[in-house]
Amino acid sequence: MNIKKLARKFFPRRCHHYIRSEIVRLVRNAEYVEAEIRLLDSLAGDSSCLGMDYLTRYQGKYALLSDYLYDHNSVAVRGIERSRDLIGMQAKVPAHDFLELGCWDGMVSAALADAGKSVTAIDRRDTGFDARARAAGVKFIAMNASDLEFPDASFDFIFSYDAFEHFENPEEAFSEMVRVLRPGGYLYLDFGPLYNSPFGEHAYQSISVPYCQFLFSEETINSFARNQGLAEIDFSHVNRRSLRDYRAIWEKWSGVLQRVEYYEGIDFRHLKLIIDHPGLFKRHFQTLDEFTVDNIRVLFRKIPISES
Ligand SMILES: C[S@@+](CC[C@H](N)C(=O)[O-])C[C@H]1O[C@@H](n2cnc3c(N)ncnc32)[C@H](O)[C@@H]1O
Repeated sequence: MNIKKLARKFFPRRCHHYIRSEIVRLVRNAEYVEAEIRLLDSLAGDSSCLGMDYLTRYQGKYALLSDYLYDHNSVAVRGIERSRDLIGMQAKVPAHDFLELGCWDGMVSAALADAGKSVTAIDRRDTGFDARARAAGVKFIAMNASDLEFPDASFDFIFSYDAFEHFENPEEAFSEMVRVLRPGGYLYLDFGPLYNSPFGEHAYQSISVPYCQFLFSEETINSFARNQGLAEIDFSHVNRRSLRDYRAIWEKWSGVLQRVEYYEGIDFRHLKLIIDHPGLFKRHFQTLDEFTVDNIRVLFRKIPISES
């Protein structure tokens, strides 16, 4: 059993992430400081994208990520783990009517339905929904998260995993979630990698190079993928919102939603690429957290009028 699996066994998932983020915050090592200085330096360097020679060299240096699986067993196990997390988040009055956004296979919803909850799940595409979720009693509807066809205050728990960074208009989708959530109800989002973080392009099936979205042009990436017989990248697959954009959404709704839990996960393993090519990063942002915060988990509670 490797260290990651061992840590998961002894620490609940959320606790494990918290410990990791605290260690990262404490460690802020020399590389972190150097990357920050390079980024802020006004003579930061060349801002033209790197060529095919660099992509070939870097692709050989980094391994493709392969730890998020969609096979029959993995989706079921993930669904059970996540549903336990969700049930653990509820307050003294347990929620009954759940809504999942961007559900794809729907196996989190399936596990909630198995636990006796009433669950509706939506996704823009209807091709991935698992027969086991349907059999568990999940009501699946093909729908756009930015245009929810439900009356106001229909659900008392709304959640979404790894989908918010894909919604074309997350601001509208968020506003819709708030509308269909009952006062006193909960809204949980867990998503990433954020666009500006190392694997934000979501190209990990084909391109192993962290920050490929800043280092190379789209043409270079896709001609490399074609030449290597790898899947081409659909660059419209993610909404390209920044950390700053997401923080602005939370801020906008702060009078309506109380933040119960908030966590920004950090990946600072690839700072060397920022140090080596600061000009390619600096033209996008000047703050290092934009490039290192890679996922967000947030639990909100909709403040009832009686409490506001
Ligand atoms: C990376 S998948 C995540 C699937 C699943 N929640 C998981 O954690 O494995 C993102 C999902 O969001 C869906 N999606 C993207 N934009 C959407 C939108 N505007 N409305 C509803 N679903 C959307 C996609 O079809 C896809 O199934």
